[in-house]
Amino acid sequence: MANTIKTALVTGANKGIGREIAGQLAGLGYRVWLGCRDIQRAETAAREMRQTIGDVRVLRLDVADGDSVMRAAAALAGETRRLDVLVNNAGIALDAQLPPSAVDMALLKSTYEVNVFGPVRVTQAFLPLLRAAPAARIVMMSSGAGALAKLSDPSFATNLLAYSSSKTALNAVTLAFAREFRNTPIKINAANPGHVATDLNGHAGPLSVAEGAAVAIRLATLGADGPTGGFFNAAGPEPW
Ligand SMILES: NC(=O)c1ccc[n+]([C@@H]2O[C@H](COP(=O)([O-])OP(=O)(O)OC[C@H]3O[C@@H](n4cnc5c(N)ncnc54)[C@H](OP(=O)(O)O)[C@@H]3O)[C@@H](O)[C@H]2O)c1
Repeated sequence: MANTIKTALVTGANKGIGREIAGQLAGLGYRVWLGCRDIQRAETAAREMRQTIGDVRVLRLDVADGDSVMRAAAALAGETRRLDVLVNNAGIALDAQLPPSAVDMALLKSTYEVNVFGPVRVTQAFLPLLRAAPAARIVMMSSGAGALAKLSDPSFATNLLAYSSSKTALNAVTLAFAREFRNTPIKINAANPGHVATDLNGHAGPLSVAEGAAVAIRLATLGADGPTGGFFNAAGPEPW
């Protein structure tokens, strides 16, 4: 088992921004695993990327299912001794068309299972491999829609109870992990990709997936002098 190849895991990488992040990391020379629950689509994406970009593999992983995450961590430990990059990208926006008063508890819980508990369980499960890397980077795919600085501005158009509050919680999760690991080489940051045209928003965003992936790539490849416990967009720091 080679111990010199840099490795990365991107959750929710069979399409959208996650697929683009995975492709760009592979292009930078990382061995990349697409952590996906839809294996058929993931295999197709990995095959295409192997032909054109680099070393891309598939890891069956449903971030909302603790057993699936534990099985994925055990499977990856059988394939690599270290994980240099984890991008917690998988996310859902179930209440995109609903006012807060119409969001029921089932929808709220489902959203948190993927957007909040998912990154927590994936980060915890893969920590042994992340610690085994010389200087692991963890990127949490957050959103401007989770920024309290924006949500407290009456002129901000987005008002989604489940999606926005889940990303606000994810920002707090990012800070908690970053504080725990601040005296280690591991750096953990949250990313706002901007409004990107993907299935998540019916392809309404003005940005391309390449533009949306840029901030995650930067945070995934930070040098030793880079920040930890921050929230960033493509242009720089994003107000919390
Ligand atoms: N697009 C934007 O404008 C925008 C803005 C701000 C933040 N973001 C964030 O960026 C991230 C990527 O979003 P996107 O726009 O690329 O959306 P997308 O095209 O809908 O992709 C979402 C990905 O997450 C996966 N996923 C969902 N639930 C999962 C689960 N339980 N386990 C594993 N994978 C799961 C999906 O896989 P399946 O095919 O299996 O469903 C899909 O691969 C999300 O966290 C989103 O909140 C997006």
